[in-house]
Amino acid sequence: MASISLQNVSRTFSGKNSSLKAIDDVSLEVETGDVYGIIGFSGAGKSTLLRTINLLERPDSGTVWVDGEELTRLSKPELRQQRRSIGMIFQHFNLVQNATVSQNVAFPLEIAAVPRAERQRRVEETLDLVGLADKAHAYPAKLSGGQKQRVGIARTLVARPRVLLCDEPTSALDPQTTDNILAFLSRLNRDMGLTIVLVTHEMAVVNAICSKVSVMEQGKVVESFDLREKRPEPKSAIASYLFGQTERETRRHA
Ligand SMILES: Nc1ncnc2c1ncn2[C@@H]1O[C@H](COP(=O)(O)OP(=O)(O)OP(=O)(O)O)[C@@H](O)[C@H]1O
Ligand SMILES: [Mg+2]
Repeated sequence: MASISLQNVSRTFSGKNSSLKAIDDVSLEVETGDVYGIIGFSGAGKSTLLRTINLLERPDSGTVWVDGEELTRLSKPELRQQRRSIGMIFQHFNLVQNATVSQNVAFPLEIAAVPRAERQRRVEETLDLVGLADKAHAYPAKLSGGQKQRVGIARTLVARPRVLLCDEPTSALDPQTTDNILAFLSRLNRDMGLTIVLVTHEMAVVNAICSKVSVMEQGKVVESFDLREKRPEPKSAIASYLFGQTERETRRHA
């Protein structure tokens, strides 16, 4: 079953004298259990597309389905409820600096009015899961980049989402930490059946964890690939360039 389905989604940003079609008639299907990559150059529309999945960005036209619900037809309260099953993590973690790791992770449960004892139990359980139990009372400023991102992931997982949207989750991290975070996301996908959509501009990230990938350019999905099948044969110039990039890297390091 499709976990996420975008059908003919468009989004235009209008300025005073100009308008820009950031998303131009995009349709795509993400199946339950996929790790789905969205790759493209800066300004291609990747973040905007990701944000239409939970309607943080409302499309001007087209429909968005998540877990069998058409989000584009829900009322505000219904949408708020439905969004709880959709988590999101970002490049810059967005942690609250004057709150401890535990407090940061507890925020979504406070907002959802989860009782204190239950909240505490779930925060502890989630910090265990991301390997940060010993940092529960630390402040974000004392953490490494990888630890901060794990707090970001914990803050999302504590609400028990079925879908995780990731916007460049490793681009602020060094290569070693990137590998660790990607391995961790991959484990969440495998062990918890979490469906992941991941935006990146690096093919190495796609190769590390994605089962499928769509290539975006100027608001359009140009080509999509199932990476579990045979070696991808890109037809478009941009997909050829991006797939070629990793081969060039591999040759350079060989
Ligand atoms: N809120 C907004 N108002 C006006 N224009 C916007 C807004 N958000 C995005 N855009 C424009 O839409 C286009 C797509 O932006 P988007 O952030 O989705 O690109 P991206 O592929 O995520 O790029 P990057 O790799 O740099 O993060 C860009 O031209 C951007 O300037
Ligand atoms: Mg972006």
